[in-house]
Amino acid sequence: MTEKKGTYYISTPIYYPSSNLHIGHTYCTVMADAMARFKRLSGYDVMFLTGTDEHGQKIQTIAEEKGVTPQAYVDGVVAGIKDLWATMEISYDDFIRTTEDRHVERVQAIFNKMYEKGDIYKGEYEGLYCTPCESFWTESQLVDGCCPDCGRPVQPAKEEAYFFKLSNYQDKLIDLLENTNFLEPESRRNEMLGFIRQGLEDLCISRSTFDWGIQVPIDEKHVIYVWLDALSNYITALGYASEDPSKFEHYWPANVHLVGKEIVRFHSIIWPAMLMSLDLPLPKQVLGHGWLLLEGGKMSKSKGNVVDPVKLIERYGIDALKYFLLREYTFGQDGIFTNEVMLKRMNYDLANDLGNLVSRTASMIEKYNGGFVPEAKTEDEIDQDLKAVATGAAAKVEAQMDKFAFNMALEEIWVLVRRANKYIDEKMPWVLAKDEAKKDELDTCMHNLAEAIRIISILIYPFMHTTSDKIRKQMGLWYADVVWEDAFTFDMMQGEQVKKGEAIFPRLDIEKELVALEEMQNAGKEPAEENIPLELKAPIEFDDFDKIDLRVGLIEKAEKHPKADKLLIFQVKMGTERRQIVSGVAEHYKPEEMVGKKVIVVANLKPRKLRGEESKGMILFADNGEKLEIVTTDAPDGESVS
Ligand code: MSP
Repeated sequence: MTEKKGTYYISTPIYYPSSNLHIGHTYCTVMADAMARFKRLSGYDVMFLTGTDEHGQKIQTIAEEKGVTPQAYVDGVVAGIKDLWATMEISYDDFIRTTEDRHVERVQAIFNKMYEKGDIYKGEYEGLYCTPCESFWTESQLVDGCCPDCGRPVQPAKEEAYFFKLSNYQDKLIDLLENTNFLEPESRRNEMLGFIRQGLEDLCISRSTFDWGIQVPIDEKHVIYVWLDALSNYITALGYASEDPSKFEHYWPANVHLVGKEIVRFHSIIWPAMLMSLDLPLPKQVLGHGWLLLEGGKMSKSKGNVVDPVKLIERYGIDALKYFLLREYTFGQDGIFTNEVMLKRMNYDLANDLGNLVSRTASMIEKYNGGFVPEAKTEDEIDQDLKAVATGAAAKVEAQMDKFAFNMALEEIWVLVRRANKYIDEKMPWVLAKDEAKKDELDTCMHNLAEAIRIISILIYPFMHTTSDKIRKQMGLWYADVVWEDAFTFDMMQGEQVKKGEAIFPRLDIEKELVALEEMQNAGKEPAEENIPLELKAPIEFDDFDKIDLRVGLIEKAEKHPKADKLLIFQVKMGTERRQIVSGVAEHYKPEEMVGKKVIVVANLKPRKLRGEESKGMILFADNGEKLEIVTTDAPDGESVS
């Protein structure tokens, strides 16, 4: 057994149980799982945490719409998430739900500690609120007047609330991001530094407009802001602020929080500031990964285009899917998911390269040596080269895993897989077998191939343990534990009995699979097209709507904003009045395309300046998440729309 090297604590974000998870969510968990398995195999005492983030207005609204209690609603979705992780054999050590008593009590204790420290005070919040993101924003943080996270419109809102003195930690946070590698990749670090340097305002950390949350311990009218509640999971799960903090003392600080790019801000600003307030050590790293996108843009339940990991697993198996996710995408960057790229990876890398290597070798050992792995008896340059590549691979994999470069770690393993296949072509064992005088060379060839496969079975274990087990069974290695150090040594096999089994990855007919997948994915879409309620903002009264004066406007002139690439400046005629309106649509329309269009204008919106240009009103666009489409009408300009 490998000697323990110390602790290694890795976490995924805790997922919102607002609907079932899609392939994008599984991406992060698959990476965390591979890392946890890799660290365990290399001798670390690992703590791998995942869970669900169950409070907040959005969940409360969905539950109300479905006519169930929020608790009943999240219980159902969370059961599905746990099933998904069980299907994918995710090796988490703990699963924290923010509705569990252990979490609730400890979050309240955290609030109290920060309050006693003098870092929390009661005030009044007035700001611009994004309901889907449950975030307040300042005017300067908005992008084109909308939420900088999701791009949707924000509404002015005011409420009595508790505040965390985030501004007190501004300098310490700048120091943390500037002088350590706390946040990676670097591009995200620069983005966050820019954000902090604009000036951190105190953070509103309570809400009184809904009640599905953890109560503020000193004020029953308020619930704790969902991000303070959620971020705390990384320590509440370990027993921080409980009667038994031994696990916390053992594993904290975390080695790495893996998070998607859009939540880096919460993890690299709010979370370290909270920990500073609690006088706790900071996690060693926050790593922001990119997103899996579809060719048409984001995956989203409302678009009905989410890729369901369960369907892919049913068809191709867990290991093929995990391999694809880890091999295809570069950590930190966005990547496009397509069926074709996935099928090609599965066929070329798994069925052809790895599958063929194992089945050819097993058949040859059965045919030429009665099914037993012979000893090596000779050695030439080709043998030496194979040995060098095989015994050198583990260190290369380690180096790539240190950088979270899962794709490159797998590539290093495939360098060996391809080298071993080439070795067969170079040695031509079928020719050696015809000549009795070449029996020693043939034995060496079989031995070296078996050794290379043994090493491959260890190297792939963190990524595809089931495949590793299958290979080890075929190679007669079922009796031995998988030990990482054994990947550095050649010549360990002695007479193991090889038994060729079924192909570890069947060859796929890509054309046929593409059609089948399309049918399957379209079949999944049907109910979405039939009638799935949209995720809407909170209901409003007719009187609220009636305050908005919508008018038809004719665009007479359009030009680019001299100081902002995203903005266009329009001169709009509405009956007797002419006015200027600035819109953030330059990425979607050329100025000349807009001239002559009759559009709908929110005419009584208070005027404001956008990069120095006055904008009186707002033109309506339809937004499909990627493109803004102009909404036009034939009605005469100046007319009222209601
Ligand atoms: N509940 C918060 C996290 C709190 S952590 C203290 C949350 N939940 S989420 O369910 O919306 O997202 C969870 C993670 O899934 C995020 O890291 C997000 O980036 C990731 N992904 C969601 N869609 C994704 C893709 N299409 N591709 C890759 N990751 C994606 O945010």
